[in-house]
Formats: sequence, structure tokens, C-alpha cells
Amino acid sequence: MRSIAVMNQKGGCGKTTTTVSLAGCLAAEGHRVLVVDMDPQAHATLGLGIDPEEIDQNLYEVLSEDADGAAPIEDIVLQPAENLDVAPSGVILSALEQKLAAEAASGRTERLSAALDRLEADYAFVLIDCPPNVGVLTFNALRAAQEVIIPLETSYYAMHGVGKLLETISLLEDRLGHQLSVKLLPTLFDGRTRFAKRALAEIRETYKDLVFDTVIRQNVRLREAAQRGVPISTLDRRCYGFVDYMSLALEILFDREEEVEEEIGPVEDLDSGDVALAGEKGVVFTFKSPAARDVRLAGDFNDWVPDKNVETRLGPDGTWEKTIRLGPGVYQYRYFVDGEWRSDPSNPRRVAGPAGGVNSVLIIS
Ligand SMILES: Nc1ncnc2c1ncn2[C@@H]1O[C@H](COP(=O)(O)OP(=O)(O)O)[C@@H](O)[C@H]1O
Ligand SMILES: [Mg+2]
Repeated sequence: MRSIAVMNQKGGCGKTTTTVSLAGCLAAEGHRVLVVDMDPQAHATLGLGIDPEEIDQNLYEVLSEDADGAAPIEDIVLQPAENLDVAPSGVILSALEQKLAAEAASGRTERLSAALDRLEADYAFVLIDCPPNVGVLTFNALRAAQEVIIPLETSYYAMHGVGKLLETISLLEDRLGHQLSVKLLPTLFDGRTRFAKRALAEIRETYKDLVFDTVIRQNVRLREAAQRGVPISTLDRRCYGFVDYMSLALEILFDREEEVEEEIGPVEDLDSGDVALAGEKGVVFTFKSPAARDVRLAGDFNDWVPDKNVETRLGPDGTWEKTIRLGPGVYQYRYFVDGEWRSDPSNPRRVAGPAGGVNSVLIIS
């Protein structure tokens, strides 16, 4: 189980949108995900279609007492979508913040991590949405997390406060007793403005490897998804909002690249080929293998049915050209070569497929 806290003391930088959208994309990839809503404003709960005023129990019941007196977290977890659960929040969590802050008990920052321990085997990912301050609730989140995502709005003041925040986190690491792997996520990017481009360049220059490759662009569909109470993966898989958050999900899954390498062996063992974009006519995938008798293309774009909707041309040198029409999106695919599945040797973007094996990834935006 990987647990990731999404934090930044600034409001409106995309924490909740990131939590809910990333959760939706990881769940769409077949991973079991739990969203933990630690913000008394309950925006993540609402964003998953649950009205916090309509439910009897929320995280307050789980966190207000120590382990002996508290409700088990399973009791309050709801399932808004397939593979996607939420431990909901409510306005009473602001009272919890005060209650815990007043307590001298040393265990008050360990409540969430203790509650989540019970779920270790149930989820692949736990995503924790933090409130816009660094109080006891955020502290509980960091204690329970191994990884932290800090969304940064790519505006004029993007960098303001980031240094301080990273400093705070590294101070907290000492008190938490464990290291956190921290990454920055540029959000709300508007490529039409010079400010945004400059802000992004500055973030990359200053924080280098700490910054995700993925940038989340401004996309009105993300706002609509929040209003309708569904993750973007449910609302619309053709919009930039989905493409960007899916590419973040895959970047997070790529973290396990060594395992992928092990499974398919070194790339040189395979024949070479490449993927090119061919505009109007469609996307052309080429796979060079004079030895192969039968090469087919399958992916989520054709329901993994080899060569469905695919046009094939075989060149004299054994180059198989596979053409398929694709709109913007993030796609996973493999070749089916003489009855065996293999990922694309010429495409370094690979991910462990939800049903085992290794898929190649193509992003069209
Ligand atoms: N990439 C985006 N494109 C368009 N609107 C966005 C995007 N990310 C967030 N928003 C909107 O901006 C507002 C603040 O985002 P939110 O995720 O709630 O931030 P936070 O949780 O940090 O306060 C919300 O109305 C949300 O719908
Ligand atoms: Mg929020």
C-alpha cells in the first residue's frame, strides 16, 4: 500500500482536484484506491458525490478517540465508484483539530496512521487530501504517508512559500520519525500566458527532479467534474483534464520501473520499431521484425482485441505498419507477435499492466 498526502497550506492550488482525479485514474487502471478526506470543508467527499451532511459517520468517529475508543475506519468508508472508496469528512473535523490541538497526549498525531494500518492489505493506494493549513490534521496525514504531492499553481506567485513549505516538511520528518518522498506538481497551467510559462520554467530550474514531468493544464471539465460529484475519469476521458491526471497516474506507477525491466528483459533483445503521429489519417505504429509471421496491435483503444479497427501494411523489409484513428488521450497497448504479447521495444514509456505483464504507453495531447 502506497500512501500519498496531497498538501499545501495555500488554498485553491488544486489539492482536492488532484486527490480526486488521481484517485479516479488509478482506480480506472484497476488499482484499489482509498481517498481520505482530512479537510473539514469536505470538498473531496463532495467531489466524490457524497453530501457530508447526509451521512451519520465520518473521520471524526475514527480519529477523535485513541485506538481503544475509536470506531474502526472500515465502518465509515463508502464506495462511490468501482475500485474507489472514500473515508468522508464533515465540518465537525474542525472541532477535532481544536480538540486534538488541546490534548497533550503524545499519540494525537498518530491517529490516522494507526487507523490505516488495519487496511494495509485492502488498498494499493491511499490518497490523503489535506486542509489548507499545517495543523494537527495535516500532521496526522504526514505521519500516515510515505509520499507527498505538493500542487503548485503556475501563477505569478507560484514559488512563493514553496521553500518554506519544504523546510517545514523536512523539520517534520525528524519529529515524524520517517522520511517522506516529496514531489511538486505544477497545476492550473495556462500555456497562453507568458507568466505561466515563466513560472513553470522557474519551478523546474529551482526544484529540478523534485518536479513531476506531468503538468496539469487548466481545464474547465475538471471544475464540472467537481460540481457533478464524479472524478474526471467518470465524466470525460477525452479532455485534457483526464489526459493530464492519467499521465500523472502513470508517472507515479512508473516509479516501479525496475520491476518492469526485470519482467521484459533488456530492450536490445527485441526488434526495433517506433511510433509516429500521422495526423489526419491516424496514428501509425511501426514494428520491424522480418522473422515474425503475424503481428497485431491491441490496446485499450480497441478493447484489447488484436487488430480491431487497425489497418495493416507490411513492407518488404519486414516492417509492419499499423494505423488506427485516435483522439487525444492516454493509451496503453501491446503487440501480439506470433501469438505472444510483447510491449513496444522502441517506446521507453512502459507500465505494469493492471492484469499483469507490461504495457507500452502512448500519450496524445
Ligand atoms: N486544472 C484545473 N483546471 C481548471 N480548474 C481547476 C483545475 N484545478 C483546480 N481547479 C478548480 O480550482 C478550484 C480550486 O481547486 P481545488 O482542487 O479545490 O484546490 P484546493 O483543494 O487546493 O483548495 C476549484 O474550483 C477547482 O475546480
Ligand atoms: Mg481542497
